[in-house]
Amino acid sequence: MNYLEQSRAALKQLQTREHIRILAVESSCDETAAAVVEDGRRILSNAVFTQIDLHALYGGVVPEIASRAHVEKVDRMVDQALKDAGMTLHEVDAVAVTCGPGLVGALLVGVSCAKALAFAANKPLIGVNHIEGHICANFLTHPDLRPPFACLVVSGGHSHLFSVEDYGVFRILGQTQDDAAGEAFDKAARVLNIPYPGGPLLDKLSEEGDPHALPLPRPKTEGRYDYSFSGLKTAFINAVHNARQKGEEIRDADLAASFRAAVVSQLTDRAMLAAKELGLSKMALAGGVSANRLLRREMQRACDEMGIPLYMPALSLCGDNAAMIGSAAYYHLLRGEIAGLELNARPALRLTV
Ligand code: KG4
Ligand code: ZN
Repeated sequence: MNYLEQSRAALKQLQTREHIRILAVESSCDETAAAVVEDGRRILSNAVFTQIDLHALYGGVVPEIASRAHVEKVDRMVDQALKDAGMTLHEVDAVAVTCGPGLVGALLVGVSCAKALAFAANKPLIGVNHIEGHICANFLTHPDLRPPFACLVVSGGHSHLFSVEDYGVFRILGQTQDDAAGEAFDKAARVLNIPYPGGPLLDKLSEEGDPHALPLPRPKTEGRYDYSFSGLKTAFINAVHNARQKGEEIRDADLAASFRAAVVSQLTDRAMLAAKELGLSKMALAGGVSANRLLRREMQRACDEMGIPLYMPALSLCGDNAAMIGSAAYYHLLRGEIAGLELNARPALRLTV
């Protein structure tokens, strides 16, 4: 029997087992991570090495530096995750990895590592979409959450409103027409001299600012539930430069708060419009930007007002991590979706067809 035939045979046995423990690897951008997750819902370990310090000097992620750092750290993260879970590689039931979307060189490191581990230990291999992973971070925080629900995925590379119709079944309700929300936060932060990635610090600074200090446009979009952040970002950068040239004193905290309010109101208003018009009964947030304080408060307020529950990942699971990949992989495994050793990095992998 070849590797895939053996995996299929192992899968049949696994599907009848009481507990399934998956070792997951994530390396799509600037975090090298490994985790062990039980039954898609329980984190046994979650090791993350963040490369932020390596990229901060350049004001953004440098793909080549990211790939090299992943190569250096990936084995260590896997060892750490297994050690923290109190398990050996042979005791896990399957190996999962993010295969896209992301930086091709970065993805390749995780994919190669996971393939080698799966082959060496003769375990089924599961390729996971990074965005699906972000959505599944909610399953780790909320054991009661089951599809269907709507999920606003906002990260450095994505801003999508999805309908999660079932495990692994997604439909796009709305999406950004240009920049992602995280990207817009990072670029706005840069003009305020906040180091990369600026989103979290801009958020913190905004807490002391006046969100009405700087009027900003509310962009129009084609679709009712679509987003647009590029015009907003340019308007913000121009307004800051103009104010500086005229010698006007606007506090950085006020500028930050104005920008944050404009991004968050757009995200919240459109998601809630979709909830009302489409009769969505449960809302969730996911992705790095779901850690944003104002977004969490405003979405909570709006969902309370509408009388629907809001699910948000724990702050530690909003950014990139491997536990969320282990959660998504569990549902792939239950559906019998396993990969062969030809699994490859797919930088532009989509969640919907
Ligand atoms: O999901 P993530 O870790 O990586 C991607 O898949 O892109 O998201 C990273 C993005 C960055 O743009 C970062 O600035 C942003 O999430 N971010 C935030 C906050 N925390 C992280 N943006 C606004 N407010 C935050 N608190
Ligand atoms: Zn991410």
